[in-house]
Amino acid sequence: MKHTNKLKQTLFSLLLLSQLTIYSQTDIKIYDIGYQIYNYLLSDTPEKIIDMVAQDDLDSKATVLESFLKIKEILSASAKLKNYQYFNTVQDALGNIYIIMKNKNKFLTIKVKMNDTGKISGEFKLIQGSINDELSLGEKIYNMKCFSCHGINAKGGLGPNLADNYWKYVNNEQDLINLIKDGKKGTMMMSFKDYLKPQELKAIYLYIKAINGKEVKNAKKPEGEKKKITFQVF
Ligand code: HEC
Repeated sequence: MKHTNKLKQTLFSLLLLSQLTIYSQTDIKIYDIGYQIYNYLLSDTPEKIIDMVAQDDLDSKATVLESFLKIKEILSASAKLKNYQYFNTVQDALGNIYIIMKNKNKFLTIKVKMNDTGKISGEFKLIQGSINDELSLGEKIYNMKCFSCHGINAKGGLGPNLADNYWKYVNNEQDLINLIKDGKKGTMMMSFKDYLKPQELKAIYLYIKAINGKEVKNAKKPEGEKKKITFQVF
């Protein structure tokens, strides 16, 4: 999938100009937004963002560019970014965007804060520790306990694709937690509460939330209904 075409760039620049309503009106995925931001962080000339957002809102242009450069500086200083691959982008209940990157079994998350009118505030924050460690643990558990039925990158197998926005049983965060904890009677989906410690359960919920909406190759066709689930905590 090409993420670099002109239309998307134009739409993205509009998004950066805080027209987040455009996102809900069209079918641009949050994945694309994160992927674009990630590309700018990687590029040697993030200044080209100036051209993209240099429409009429000079203030937002300046804050966004400043934050980009700050994050890029931190990442380059630790020589981290170039070793990381783009993983996925998710949004929390408050609308904040989390860009998740991955290097082998390590994760790195950047939070893009939204203000209360749903606009990109220009505040980009590199999250250290907790979420990233939890994602690593979650992935480890996924590979040990879920992979055999739900496939690589949660693309589906014996069990449904967990990377798409279609769900059979899950309507909200609590359903996801209950389903993994208790399983689904009469199906292959077993209960995990006796096999995973509370901390491990927490990590696997987070990992499933993080992988949901990811672009995956050869994914199993959707099952259930298309639902946009907003998770409370990320
Ligand atoms: C032995 C195979 C198997 C294993 C192992 C397994 N699952 Fe499942 N899972 C299934 C099947 C099959 C379904 C669908 C049941 C149905 O269609 O009625 C399912 C359903 C689900 C759903 C609901 C999806 C939806 O569309 O609502 C979630 C979430 C889920 N599994 C997560 C997990 C997680 C997380 C793990 C690892 C901790 C895991 N599963 C391990 C077979 C498995």
